[in-house]
Amino acid sequence: MTIRNEISFASIPVHTGLSAALGKDRTEVIKNVTDSGLKGRGGAGFPAGVKWKFASETTSEKKIVICNADEGEPGTFKDRVILSEWPDLVFDGMTIAGYAVGASLGIVYLRGEYTYLRQSLEDRLSARRAAGLLGNDIQGKQGFSFDIHIHMGCGAYVCGEESALIESLEGKRGESRNRPPFPVTSGLFGVPTVVNNVETLAWVAAIMVKGDAWFKRVGTEKSSGYKLLSISGDVERPGVYEFPMGTKISAILEAAGAERTKAAVVGGASGLLVPAKDFHRAISFEDVSTGGSIIVFDQSRDLLDAVENFQEFFADESCGQCTICRMGNVKLLEGIRLLKDGKCTTKHLNALCALGESMKAASKCGLGQSAPNMFLSVLEHFRGEVMGRVSHHRHATGKSDKRIAS
Ligand SMILES: Cc1cc2nc3c(=O)[nH]c(=O)nc-3n(C[C@H](O)[C@H](O)[C@H](O)COP(=O)(O)O)c2cc1C
Repeated sequence: MTIRNEISFASIPVHTGLSAALGKDRTEVIKNVTDSGLKGRGGAGFPAGVKWKFASETTSEKKIVICNADEGEPGTFKDRVILSEWPDLVFDGMTIAGYAVGASLGIVYLRGEYTYLRQSLEDRLSARRAAGLLGNDIQGKQGFSFDIHIHMGCGAYVCGEESALIESLEGKRGESRNRPPFPVTSGLFGVPTVVNNVETLAWVAAIMVKGDAWFKRVGTEKSSGYKLLSISGDVERPGVYEFPMGTKISAILEAAGAERTKAAVVGGASGLLVPAKDFHRAISFEDVSTGGSIIVFDQSRDLLDAVENFQEFFADESCGQCTICRMGNVKLLEGIRLLKDGKCTTKHLNALCALGESMKAASKCGLGQSAPNMFLSVLEHFRGEVMGRVSHHRHATGKSDKRIAS
């Protein structure tokens, strides 16, 4: 997949971020990451420095750093590109995290479909061991030992959720955990564990070289720095792009060569559907947040096809642990199919809306909480189109429902 514009960390020489970090005190490294304003690039946007501080303050002798390379969100492929092009930057970031929080073990949880990348990543890790960048007394830093292993995921989307990922690493079914405790205090086998996204870790290495002010200077007040985006769908130039946080969606679509755009789904299947009238909105944690995916739909698209496709995905990927997600996704999918066939009544549509809202409120993890997003936002923004598909047979009571029908 093509890299479409200059990526700011591409020019950072390998190991320089790690060397810079090892020249500092651990607390200073955490302070730099905190001051940079770097928030997690995996979707949730938790401040990386705060996460590291929590982990560093735990008294456990063992600590673990996990690089979340599960990348299962439909439409997201920027982590795959980072791991293909700049794996050492990610390994530098993991080692810096290990140094900062006091961990000696790093694990890359690699998406099952990325098995083809494994050998090249293992080769890089061997080269790093040979160069003294992994192992004991790294780069002469007495007492700092750290090594990285790769663990393959098996194709479950939910295993990208950090606590399900940890369960899977423990050899169990990938199911999310109740929190608290959070992984930073009790993660893999109860050991304090920092989980960070691939891109987050690459930025850490860049921040160590270029400085926190360099990162903080770009973006918005609450969302500093740059963001890598995987852009696909109805665009002339799909691929991976870097944009400063706070960039308007219209500018992003223009760069990718989108024309006659009806809507863009920002953040993948679990993200937000943004209609063309809202393209003045910006990519940031305080406006339209994204782990890194933008899927573009032009005027020729039937959005209910996309909704059906996403809902199939969630019905397949629900881990089944909580009833509202397990059953809700199947019921939504059935309803969407009825709607597409012109067999969904207003009453049924209202029930589907209520179900979607309940799933958002009551599902245990982010999968079920975000699964109805696309359906609900198509209803919100393309109501006329949806209502045109509703069955004209009145429901049993004969009453119109104010929530949807008007
Ligand atoms: C269903 C689901 C899937 C997720 N998949 C990923 C993923 O593939 N990669 C990722 O980094 N984070 C994913 N996350 C977010 C992680 O739980 C976690 O917030 C993230 O790895 C933390 O890293 P960060 O703070 O650097 O973003 C997912 C969350 C949910 C709810």
